[in-house]
Amino acid sequence: MTTRYRVEYALKTHRRDQLIEWIKGLLAVPFVLHSQPTAIFEERRERVAQMASNAHRRYAEIMRDVEELINDHIANQKAGTAERSKLKLLVPTVGTFFTPLLLQDAFMYQDSRRFISSRCFVPPSFNDVRLILNTAQIMSLVRGGPIELMTFDGDVTLYDDGESLAPESAVIRRILTLMSKGINVGIVTAAGYLEAMKYYSRLHGLLDAIHASQLPLELKEKIVVMGGESNYLFRYSSSSPDRLIPVPRHEWLLDDMKLWSEEDINELLDTAESALKGSIETMHLDAQIIRKERGVGMVPSPGQRFAREQLEETVLLTQKILEISPVGRRLPFCAFNGGSDVFVDIGDKAWGVQACQKFFGGIEGAKTLHIGDQFLSAGANDFKARLACTTAWIASPTETVALLDEISELDQLMEFKRK
Ligand code: IMP
Ligand code: MG
Repeated sequence: MTTRYRVEYALKTHRRDQLIEWIKGLLAVPFVLHSQPTAIFEERRERVAQMASNAHRRYAEIMRDVEELINDHIANQKAGTAERSKLKLLVPTVGTFFTPLLLQDAFMYQDSRRFISSRCFVPPSFNDVRLILNTAQIMSLVRGGPIELMTFDGDVTLYDDGESLAPESAVIRRILTLMSKGINVGIVTAAGYLEAMKYYSRLHGLLDAIHASQLPLELKEKIVVMGGESNYLFRYSSSSPDRLIPVPRHEWLLDDMKLWSEEDINELLDTAESALKGSIETMHLDAQIIRKERGVGMVPSPGQRFAREQLEETVLLTQKILEISPVGRRLPFCAFNGGSDVFVDIGDKAWGVQACQKFFGGIEGAKTLHIGDQFLSAGANDFKARLACTTAWIASPTETVALLDEISELDQLMEFKRK
C-alpha cells in the first residue's frame, strides 16, 4: 500500500497543490470522525443538524489554526527565517505570503454558501479549500485595502479557452466598476502578438465598453494589456481604432529584463523548439510548430486534438530539457500546457505582473491581486505570478465574475463599517 501510494504521489505531484492537499487532509479528520452518514437511516433530522454544527465548529477551529501557522510563517519571512517556519516544515512547497489569510472568516463565508459542514458523504474537497483560500485572500486585501492593481489572465479566466471577450460578457461591467473606483487593471496573458489589432480582436468587448463609457480619460487609461507573459505591453488609447497602442519596451522593461540578450532568447527558443519536435516524433503527434519572436508553441493540426496525457508529457519533458540547459539557467522562461496546446515563452507572469506594477508607479505585491486558472506547479503559467503578488485561483469565467462580486460585497461591508 505504502509503496503504491508513494509511486502514485511521485507521479502526480505536478497535478497537486500541496498547501491545498494538506488543508484538505486536516479537514478530513473531523469529517471521518464526526460525520453521521448512518443518520439518514434513522430519519432523525436533529442528529443531522447537530452533526453539521459540530463539523462547522471543528472545521472553523482548524482553519483558525492554519491561519495562525501562516501568521507565524509571515513573521519568519519578515525576520528572514522563512525556511525555518513550522508551516515550511509541514508544507515544504509554500512560498511567500504577501498578506495574512483570514481563513476562519473565509470558511464561515463559504460554508454559508456551499454548506460544506452539512455534508456527510463528501468530505471538504480540493475545490472547497481553493475557494476558501480565494475568499481569505480577498478578505485580507479588502480589509487591509485599498487594492491598487488587479491583473487578469485571459483564456479560462475572462473567456472560455480559445474564445474572446464578447460584448455580452458578464465580467465587463465588473471590470468597469473596478476602474471607476480608481483600481488599475492589467490583462496579463500568454497570448503573444506584436500588433494591437490582435489583442483588440480577443478583448474587443471590454475595450469597446471602456471606450464608450462615461469614465474620464484618466480612469480609462487605467487598463493595460501585457502579452506573451511579459513581452508586449499595450496601453489604452482613445484615438486608436484598436483602442490600444504599444508602449515602447525601454519605457516599461524592468532593469533585469534589459539584460536578456537576443542571442540567449533565440538559443532558448531553438532548444524549446527541438524539445517540442522531439515530443511530436516520439508520440507520433499530428501537430504544428508555431515559432514567434518571444515564444514557440506546439498546436494540433486542423481538426485534431491532443490527449491530456500528450500535453502533460510534452510540457514536462520540454520544461526538464530547458531547466537543465545552460541557457535555461540564464534566462527565465515559462513552459505551459494551454489546455489544447503547449507553449514556451520568454519570461513569465511574475515578470509580467511586476512590469504592470512598475508601469502604474510602483504598486506593491500586497496591493495587487492576480486572478488566473493555471496554478499547478509544473506546466502552468499563472503559478509564477505568486512571486509578484497575491493571487486567486479560479476555474472558469463564471467563477471570476463570482469573485469580483464577492470583492464588491466585502468592499460595501467595509464602507458600511467605516461610516
Ligand atoms: P492565457 O490563458 O491568457 O495565458 O493564454 C494562453 C493561450 O494563449 C495559450 O494556450 C495559446 O493557445 C495562446 N497563445 C497564443 N500565442 C501565444 C504565445 O505566443 N505564447 C503562449 N501562448 C500563446
Ligand atoms: Mg488561462
